[in-house]
Amino acid sequence: MYEEDRLDKFERKAQRWKEERIEKDSERFKVVQGVFDESTLMVLYKFLSKGILEELFGTINSGKEANVYYGKAPNGDEYAVKVYRTVASVFKRIHEYIQGDRRFKRYKKNSYAIIYTWARKEFSNLKRIEKTGIPVPRPIEVEKNVLIMGFLGRDGLAFPLIREAEVEDPDKQYKSIIDDIKKLYEEAGLVHGDLSEYNLMFDPDEQQYYVIDVSQAVLASNPRADLYLYRDITNINNYFEGLGATTVSRDTLFKQITGMKPSPSLALDVEGN
Ligand SMILES: Nc1ncnc2c1ncn2[C@@H]1O[C@H](COP(=O)(O)OP(=O)(O)O)[C@@H](O)[C@H]1O
Ligand SMILES: [Mg+2]
Repeated sequence: MYEEDRLDKFERKAQRWKEERIEKDSERFKVVQGVFDESTLMVLYKFLSKGILEELFGTINSGKEANVYYGKAPNGDEYAVKVYRTVASVFKRIHEYIQGDRRFKRYKKNSYAIIYTWARKEFSNLKRIEKTGIPVPRPIEVEKNVLIMGFLGRDGLAFPLIREAEVEDPDKQYKSIIDDIKKLYEEAGLVHGDLSEYNLMFDPDEQQYYVIDVSQAVLASNPRADLYLYRDITNINNYFEGLGATTVSRDTLFKQITGMKPSPSLALDVEGN
């Protein structure tokens, strides 16, 4: 059952604290009131009281399963605060990905627990990926359905997705992303699972991409890892072919990365999706 009846000590404190201070703090959390549900609000207050988050501003962007807000730490560091929506369509989408992951065997079967697991999964994936040197946002904190990460942008403006940006040397970017897909597999033991021009942000000045949205990334040992890898490669090839880059065939790449020939059913499954 969801935790209403077993709010831990801190949450009770946060609740009291919140009730006492909500008026006073309404300036700092301009977007908060009326936007977040009670539980999300409490998580934000916890971050506030721990000195992790000082201010929260408007939405940077909304994706499939989350809204991402611009926030600031007490020392002025800029953050992206990803708040996962707790709605049925999101529970359904993510169930499939969590199932095969041995790191998340014992998650509770209720919907909120699934979302919290999902957020923790993105956080642990970010940490894992960060260690390899692949460019990702810096993971800061996660609590329930709220994940705080480093802000990707400049002068308070988020970088565009790569699909909206000017890519000066598609061949170079393509090679680099393919190397990172390999590195992700070999060094982090992960497959992104939703890699495409929609989940790559791009710094146009530095001509540098960043991989985002890693909540669904699965271990290479996951039964669906082959399919996700094949699909990721297909998406990246399609996108860069559209930019005129010379690409390597997906079968060759799949073999280079996994050491195995792709089974013919993979192409059918990817095209069928
Ligand atoms: N670290 C970040 N810094 C700045 N903007 C971000 C960051 N992470 C995500 N965004 C923005 O928020 C959008 C949604 O984030 P994403 O992680 O892709 O969520 P979803 O799972 O909902 O697709 C992105 O397309 C991007 O515009
Ligand atoms: Mg996304």
